[in-house]
Amino acid sequence: MRIKDVIKFPESVYILEKLLNKDKAWLFLNDDLKVPEEFFEIQEKVKNGYPIEYIFEEVYFYGDKFYISEGVLIPRDDTEVVVDRAIEFIKSCQVAKYRVPSTKFKVIDCCSGSGVIAIEIKKHTGAEVIATDINEIAIEIAKKNAKLHNVEIEFKKCDLFNEKADLLIANPPYVENSYPKPNKFEPDEAFYGGSDGLDIIKKLINKAIEFKIPYAIIETGYNQKELLSKFLKEKGIKKYEFFKDLARNIRGVEIILNVDN
Ligand SMILES: C[S@@+](CC[C@H](N)C(=O)[O-])C[C@H]1O[C@@H](n2cnc3c(N)ncnc32)[C@H](O)[C@@H]1O
Repeated sequence: MRIKDVIKFPESVYILEKLLNKDKAWLFLNDDLKVPEEFFEIQEKVKNGYPIEYIFEEVYFYGDKFYISEGVLIPRDDTEVVVDRAIEFIKSCQVAKYRVPSTKFKVIDCCSGSGVIAIEIKKHTGAEVIATDINEIAIEIAKKNAKLHNVEIEFKKCDLFNEKADLLIANPPYVENSYPKPNKFEPDEAFYGGSDGLDIIKKLINKAIEFKIPYAIIETGYNQKELLSKFLKEKGIKKYEFFKDLARNIRGVEIILNVDN
């Protein structure tokens, strides 16, 4: 088979670019060349649901390239809106409210996975960032990514978090246990949050209250607004706002916690 027979599919173009270490224009100019055997092995894996990001060990998030491998969730574009909100909030605090040098503003990125949120926040705000995850492999990959991006972040392998900060940000597992995973290769503990998906989110909010964290930005499922609002009201939290992603689906919640510092 020749390149011209397969390059009408965007995924095939990506695989060939990576395998041959050439760009799209080169592929079109040389489309009479034979497709390498390895292409078909990869194509078969992808057809069977194996994520292409794991094959080439790279993923793009917030316009940057990150290392990724099996054992850790592949970051999703949908999460970028959560990062936008966090950066906007941190910058507004740095400039207007606290008037402190950026390095003094402390952020916890809980459930940090490959570290993409923590790294983008560090890059865009210079804030002090602590990133935590319960998964050892995630911590190792996140450290590798921080090194790649030349940023200093403190990584901790722990259950949720155990300290105070100015902002809690999290993309926790929030999928209902009965819901099927998008593929069988990404880790279960990155997705599932109990029967209604809210187990970890509720624990995060309780922890934020315990450690008197004044502000939290948490990614949620598109259908969790009602149940989560009920929980927040039960906790006596009145100031919160659900926000949407680019597809106009609910993507997360910003919470102002009533804490005495
Ligand atoms: C949805 S993934 C998010 C990863 C990353 N923040 C991102 O947006 O790509 C959730 C992450 O939470 C971690 N996790 C699950 N339970 C946890 C817990 N109790 N404490 C800390 N991390 C946890 C998982 O290991 C996984 O890396």
